[in-house]
Amino acid sequence: MEQLPIGIFDSGLGGLTVASEIMSILPQESIVYFGDTARCPYGPRDLNEVRRFVLEIGAWLAARPVKLMVIACNTATAAGLALAQQAFDVPVIGVVLPGARAAVRSTVNKNVGVIATVGTVESGAYSRAVRGLDAGVTVFSAATPKFVDVVEAGLHRGHGALEDWLAESSDVFIRPSFHELARDYLDPLKRSGVDTLVLGCTHFPLLSAAIQGAMGSNVTLISSAAETASEVQYALKRRGHLAPEGQLVKHRFATTGDSVSFAKFGSRVLRHQIDTADHSPLDTLVELPSAELLTLIDGLGGASR
Ligand code: DGL
Repeated sequence: MEQLPIGIFDSGLGGLTVASEIMSILPQESIVYFGDTARCPYGPRDLNEVRRFVLEIGAWLAARPVKLMVIACNTATAAGLALAQQAFDVPVIGVVLPGARAAVRSTVNKNVGVIATVGTVESGAYSRAVRGLDAGVTVFSAATPKFVDVVEAGLHRGHGALEDWLAESSDVFIRPSFHELARDYLDPLKRSGVDTLVLGCTHFPLLSAAIQGAMGSNVTLISSAAETASEVQYALKRRGHLAPEGQLVKHRFATTGDSVSFAKFGSRVLRHQIDTADHSPLDTLVELPSAELLTLIDGLGGASR
């Protein structure tokens, strides 16, 4: 079991921010990363549809096989973590609880802001997680879906003098108009007096410098990536499933979208060269779930958001 890789998935490239932290604290572990780029973004979709995607990709990872799964997407965690934990035989870790825990630890004035996709905000997952940890903390949530588009567009822009200038202090290329968008989204949170802001979407750490600039230096930004990586380490250690020292480390990447651009732009997010990514067509993905999983998926038809 300990020789098996860790499975990580997201709607696209954003989850590589989590993969990067896992690779940094667990350098002896191999990972299999699945980016569902062809169906990105998940944020505006019905949560039942996202639950189905979670089960399909979980089945794909379970078939590798993997020793633990990380849902490196807040929307997919909010929609499908509980279902995935029920469906698969390995531990499944999401990104919402680790982010909530870090926020509760950080806040002094007990006012925490969360920015996330529409799906994550509407699910109420962060409010529940934060209040479950400390009922005295007030959560102010804002859906900031255009930030996902900014990251996607910024990543797909090439290098050049103009792009470098536009990138300013961000990890991705952003246009000056971003600041206006950030003001519209973030001013209400600033007025609420939050001292801590959770980046409740795995795409957002790539905008953290610009978001910090808009919020001001007195607000602490929380990315759940580091906290999630620690949880993965703890879960593997507790089960005696950490990879043995000296094991050959091999990372694999797969995407439902264009594998060449995944490798190219993913390398930028991961800060680690992705030599190749495999293309996994959607039609093979939907054929994977077992009869038992299909029953769970069918059951989603009647469930509500
Ligand atoms: N990375 C996803 C998340 O953390 C957001 C992107 C999307 O909408 O698919 O929620």
